[in-house]
Amino acid sequence: MPEIMPTQAPAHLRMGSSIGQPLTRREGVLKTTGAARFAADNHPPGMVYAALAVSSIARGRVTALDVAAARAHPGVIEVMTPANAPKLALDPDAKTNPFMFRLDLLQNDRVRYPNQPVAVVVADSLEAATEGAALLAPRYEAEPARTGLDSDESFAPPAVGAGSPAEESHGDVAAGLAAASVRMEAVYDTPAQYHNAMEPHAIVAAWDGDTLSIDTPSQGMAMAQARIAGLFGIAPEGIHIRSPFLGGGFGSKGLLSGPQVLGIMAARLVGRPVKLVLRREQMFGPVGHRAPTRQTLRMGADGEGALTALSHHAKTASSTFDDFFEPAASASHTLYASPAITTSHEAVRIDTGTPLFMRAPGEAPGSAALESAIDEMALACGMDPLAFRLKNYAEVEPLSGKPFSSKALRQCYEQGAARFGWAARPQAPRQMRDEAGLLVGWGMGTATFPALMFQGHARAVLRQDGTGVVETGAHDMGQGAWTAFAQIAADALGLELDRLEFRAGSSDLPDAGIAGGSAHTATVGVAIHGAGADVIAKLADLATTDRRSPLFGAGNAGVIARSGRLHRRDDEARSESYADILTRAGRDAIEGQGTGAADPAALSAYAMHAHGAVFAEVKVDPDFGQIRVTRLVGAFAAGTIVNPRLVRSQYYGGMIWGVSFALHEHAVVDRRSGRPMNPNLAEYHVPVNADVPSIEAILVEERDVHVNALGIKGVGEIGVTGTAGAIANAVWHATGTRVRSFPITLDRLLEA
Ligand code: MOS
Repeated sequence: MPEIMPTQAPAHLRMGSSIGQPLTRREGVLKTTGAARFAADNHPPGMVYAALAVSSIARGRVTALDVAAARAHPGVIEVMTPANAPKLALDPDAKTNPFMFRLDLLQNDRVRYPNQPVAVVVADSLEAATEGAALLAPRYEAEPARTGLDSDESFAPPAVGAGSPAEESHGDVAAGLAAASVRMEAVYDTPAQYHNAMEPHAIVAAWDGDTLSIDTPSQGMAMAQARIAGLFGIAPEGIHIRSPFLGGGFGSKGLLSGPQVLGIMAARLVGRPVKLVLRREQMFGPVGHRAPTRQTLRMGADGEGALTALSHHAKTASSTFDDFFEPAASASHTLYASPAITTSHEAVRIDTGTPLFMRAPGEAPGSAALESAIDEMALACGMDPLAFRLKNYAEVEPLSGKPFSSKALRQCYEQGAARFGWAARPQAPRQMRDEAGLLVGWGMGTATFPALMFQGHARAVLRQDGTGVVETGAHDMGQGAWTAFAQIAADALGLELDRLEFRAGSSDLPDAGIAGGSAHTATVGVAIHGAGADVIAKLADLATTDRRSPLFGAGNAGVIARSGRLHRRDDEARSESYADILTRAGRDAIEGQGTGAADPAALSAYAMHAHGAVFAEVKVDPDFGQIRVTRLVGAFAAGTIVNPRLVRSQYYGGMIWGVSFALHEHAVVDRRSGRPMNPNLAEYHVPVNADVPSIEAILVEERDVHVNALGIKGVGEIGVTGTAGAIANAVWHATGTRVRSFPITLDRLLEA
């Protein structure tokens, strides 16, 4: 492990740095002992239980609910339907930015998707509420469900993802294809996928007048707070959201969902605290998912294997009433140099819950298709897939022409290939068998994810006793953010970690923005860094202007903060403790503020992305087509590594999502009813330990002085990118059969 330090951090952070230490999770013991309190673990006095009734049709109207039967059930307190649901201050279909769901909140009897909430039953026990919900036995006026990518006339969406253009191009793709000596065209399908975090969406809501206390897992508390304030017509300051721990989010907890709001409405209706927890199958509808895609890749190359054109077109689906479009084709903007590139999207509207960001939205399905296509093109050119990628290595971002703020992808290729043993790979398929006679195949894929920042804030306080407090309304989805931020905070204040309190996970703390887009560590890290620097500057002012201080006259830039002391930069032996400085100045505490956000000047000058290379080995049973991934090696470069243990764990997680994408995950939709047919963890497959026998992540050193003050890029989602393609390519290499439909299952392999 090379020692990795913050790139642009002030010199006072460079010695005894907490950043870069492979610390274990601060909340690890709490979680393993069950002491960590997740949303549904909260039981305020007088709390009652709510259960959802959800639609079994995809489209139409609810014509009858047996409310009397539900009410008559022992323990049932109230049944909330459109007849008595609290009216809202804001139309839940009003949308003012891409970061909000249009919500179904019992304001009418219409059904827009399967598993849409149609009523809420509140009871004094979970069992009574659940039974009450079952007794409602809804009747419907149903209309035919529109399902699948061929359901309807397609259209070009106005924007994809969080507002990116649906079409982008440079150069002349038609001319590039015409001039090519080698061409390929192929269509790849990816299915609908559901986030399936371990912890279902849950809320415990308690009203006190117009004040509202909420325990709910959130990837964006401040946005949720604003959304709730709007819907209920109350002040955001009166809404207190606690979200200290999440049992995973994967994007599904980024936006406030309908069921969470229904829990708040139910609490208002019954005048008592209410707990509402989604059942697993109820998560296949109102809380987002990844839409299916059908992607057409076309490429041309000259006789040397240099691309002359690349066209990536993605068809996807959104709901009939909202507009999230999976930005699948955007993956082709960054990776390969080509004089002509076009990316474009089209979509249909179907009777589904609205899709949402999920585990590398865009890049995950996009790179599965692109990296498969690159493998097919390398074969067509008679080249090794790694040699082909190096031949088409992008020295500048192809679409924009901007230089990269940093790009250690070449090193990722080198280190990953060396570790994997790629040089020994035979170029032709079906050349390798193991001792048991299983076909063995090796494949690779390139990983990429943009280095994004949202906006976040932090507050730092240094107390007279020399201890510090750092506060930010940040979110730990399980990725280790709490630990990483505490490390950044320790360095920002020049304190040992045990002298520092770090507080996060509450909307009462400064708005930390959204934990998504792999942007949280960079955004909040820079905010914390700024808050600490603000405190240290004020402290240095006190010392360097005071004749009694050994630091007098050193000037603000002439001191270094380390381990609770300020030192003269020109004579480090002359120093004074924080406590002494504050005591002499008669100050109880010094407070500082910081904000993290992308620098617009750097953004316009540079393309900013993390990169990686993933190498996969699979074994395939030649008779039955059973596929196992036996080895995965990923090498990733993502700027400053705040905590190598946690970052490696993020990469492992991402690569396992890739295994899941390639071989397992598939929401099966019934074409007649529109309903997801496998809304449970028994039939919606995700990998278990036995599916991932060996996995390695190499942390490739990379220094980025443009991306932000700490040089941090995101690590949360890049692991999935490239991995699904690498596995698909390994399956081809093992068998000689190309499956272009994900997940690659044994039936598809045998039929292909
Ligand atoms: Mo992620 S899909 O940005 O939580």
